Amino acid sequence: MASRIVAVVSQKGGAGKTTVLMQIAGGLAEVGREFAIADLDPQESALRWSELAADAGSGIPVATAVGGDDAAAALRRLGRQRRLLLVDCPPSIEHAHTLAALDVADLVLVPVVPGPTDLWSTRAVESLILQKQRRRKALLAFLLPNRVPRTRLAGEIVDFMNEFALPLLPHALAQRNAYAESALAGGSVFQLGRPAESAREEVRGLVRALLKELEKNEQ
Ligand SMILES: Nc1ncnc2c1ncn2[C@@H]1O[C@H](COP(=O)(O)OP(=O)(O)O)[C@@H](O)[C@H]1O
Ligand SMILES: [Mg+2]
Repeated sequence: MASRIVAVVSQKGGAGKTTVLMQIAGGLAEVGREFAIADLDPQESALRWSELAADAGSGIPVATAVGGDDAAAALRRLGRQRRLLLVDCPPSIEHAHTLAALDVADLVLVPVVPGPTDLWSTRAVESLILQKQRRRKALLAFLLPNRVPRTRLAGEIVDFMNEFALPLLPHALAQRNAYAESALAGGSVFQLGRPAESAREEVRGLVRALLKELEKNEQ
């Protein structure tokens, strides 16, 4: 696989950008993929988590905090050093760093909590991404349902997502304590015991789908 940059973007805080990034990082480490993490969020939660995770011997690399005026150049530089760069973004699409990530990303993941409040904010992210895609045809972007209530029928979620023009990555993450718990402990669901197996299966599915999309696009 050539060098690829994957950015996790959403309009609001709380959609699960950092959580999705952390779990994907855990899944990539599990299958022995080399990758790096860039943290564009001034809150630096991905950075702090990755320091804990690296100390705990999870195989997750310490993230690089990217700030300053030329975040796009910094991301390109980091992207060249590793096959895969995961980028966590600030919780706003107006933030210069989010725009920089969208300018350099090969693939954008938009976590969406299926509910009425996220619908409107996701529309705003979507129109920005569609605008970028008109200028950069190779830019891939997917919505990723997150915090999906386990009681909710899959059909209902698909109906909700049909509101959008961007395709859905067919691997939702359910609402699970294991995601929040493992992150607090500086790791991912791959560091938890047997009860987290269903969460691990979800993340494995997501990581496989992500790698497949990245490799499909190989030129
Ligand atoms: N699938 C999930 N299941 C349970 N809790 C989740 C899930 N996704 C996110 N959370 C929790 O929601 C909160 C916000 O998530 P976070 O990843 O920090 O969002 P963002 O980075 O978009 O602001 C955190 O407390 C996190 O643990
Ligand atoms: Mg975050």
